[in-house]
Amino acid sequence: MKRISATERRDTKSGSKEVLSAKQIRSGFIDFFRDKEHEFVPSSPIMPIGDDTLLFTNAGMNQFKDIFLGLSSPKYHRVANSQKCLRVSGKHNDLEEVGKDTYHHTFFEMLGNWSFDDYFKAEAIQWAWELLTKVWDIGPESLWATVFAGDKADGLPEDEEATTLWTKVTSIPAERVLAFGKKDNFWEMGDIGPCGPCSEIHIDLGPDSCDMKQTKGHKCAVNSGCSRFIELWNLVFIQYSRDEGGKLDPLGAKYVDTGAGLERIAAVLQGRGSNYDTDLFMPINDCVGEISGHKYTSRLNNKIDNAFRVISDHIRALVFAITDGAAPSNEGRGYVIRRILRRASRFGRELGMHEPFMYKLVPVVVDCLGDAFCEIKERADYVSTVIESEEAAFGRTLDRGIEIFEAAAERAAGKSDKTISGEDAFQIYDTYGFPLDLTQLMGKERGLEVDTTKFDELMEEQRERARAAQKSSAFMVADTELPLTEDLHKYDFDRCDSKILGWIETGSFKNKGSIEAKAEVGVVLD
Ligand code: ALA
Repeated sequence: MKRISATERRDTKSGSKEVLSAKQIRSGFIDFFRDKEHEFVPSSPIMPIGDDTLLFTNAGMNQFKDIFLGLSSPKYHRVANSQKCLRVSGKHNDLEEVGKDTYHHTFFEMLGNWSFDDYFKAEAIQWAWELLTKVWDIGPESLWATVFAGDKADGLPEDEEATTLWTKVTSIPAERVLAFGKKDNFWEMGDIGPCGPCSEIHIDLGPDSCDMKQTKGHKCAVNSGCSRFIELWNLVFIQYSRDEGGKLDPLGAKYVDTGAGLERIAAVLQGRGSNYDTDLFMPINDCVGEISGHKYTSRLNNKIDNAFRVISDHIRALVFAITDGAAPSNEGRGYVIRRILRRASRFGRELGMHEPFMYKLVPVVVDCLGDAFCEIKERADYVSTVIESEEAAFGRTLDRGIEIFEAAAERAAGKSDKTISGEDAFQIYDTYGFPLDLTQLMGKERGLEVDTTKFDELMEEQRERARAAQKSSAFMVADTELPLTEDLHKYDFDRCDSKILGWIETGSFKNKGSIEAKAEVGVVLD
């Protein structure tokens, strides 16, 4: 792999910086840590193997959890990689943010370096600083560091060691090292598991980058929520494991777990104000433009550009998740995938796309990322087929569902509580397949709430009805002496090719003859 150094980045003729591609940034990161004796390890799948605490891989460290907990021994003591991550559920969920700003994603790549009982805070801080400021030439004056301020409830002290190290091993002045509490500077992958204080590096992109200028009382600062200060890299010092009761137990050894979002680094190094304007997203945006006839123009608070961002983000998430074995369904992981696809389909309507279109974007995602993750190349046809059939199924009801939503929203807007009724939300869900959060999101766009209490009540009643119906159909099938699955509630998958063997009508199995139009029958498959 070609090594990238600060000098190589200079175009000697013009004196201007060579713009690094995302591919060069990814390999530059790995090479930098290889030089520091780190072993490259491939990304683990986006669906964690053998970990029931997570629906999807949400951080680079997931695959090393057992090492941190002392349950397995590391093969190498220093490793580096680029991990496929999906933050759409549980503790780390950015689904609703995607589209509105320049830097949130569902799927992203996390560049990381790890130490398993080897180096600790000093090297982690020094090397992150060296890569950012010396190799990638980011002006040190634009960088800020944060450290953990301690937490009384957890009985944790302030991370004075990290504070001291920042000024000792880097050139950052003390006034740009800030302390924050647990919310910002104590990293946990979920409610239980390995965790520890962290130190983050943020970049100040300048006053023009703020996306909250209109927000009353907003002051740009690190962790103030605006897009002027962006977190680039998180250095986590894993020292504890949180148990089911919430107690922190010190681990047997100390570990370093770092994470830098490739998309954010690319935005900075490519001189773009937004991740969506980098070479990781622009080819996808261009393809969406070709299909829809609209053009992406990078504006915030703009329906068209928001839709581009949602679609280009979500197609990456879908390609990676489906490649690694997720499939749209009504439960668990599959339901999350279904929500992502439905959200994208709905935003496609903003661009006038009423026919399936997401599946057409699979090749461009493969072009952008297939070199780094060859599995998406291998499964591209399968992924397209899954996406297209899911889009087609949802598309049939989506337009009608939007109309019904419009009517419900109008009723809600006329009420003093500005709330869409639980009955309306339920009908939109039940008949038109809109997940509750889609209705909530569409409501929010018009300043409306949704009565979720009533919605949940109706959902429970429906579950009851389904349970009762399932019992009676099981009885009917049993009555005709057909094989009965052990447990009708549990399925491993919800799609496959099969043959129709016959049907059940008024309690008996038939495989010859005809069925009256509109008769209700049970279909028996092989
Ligand atoms: N595990 C850390 C994170 O995900 C690096 O931010």
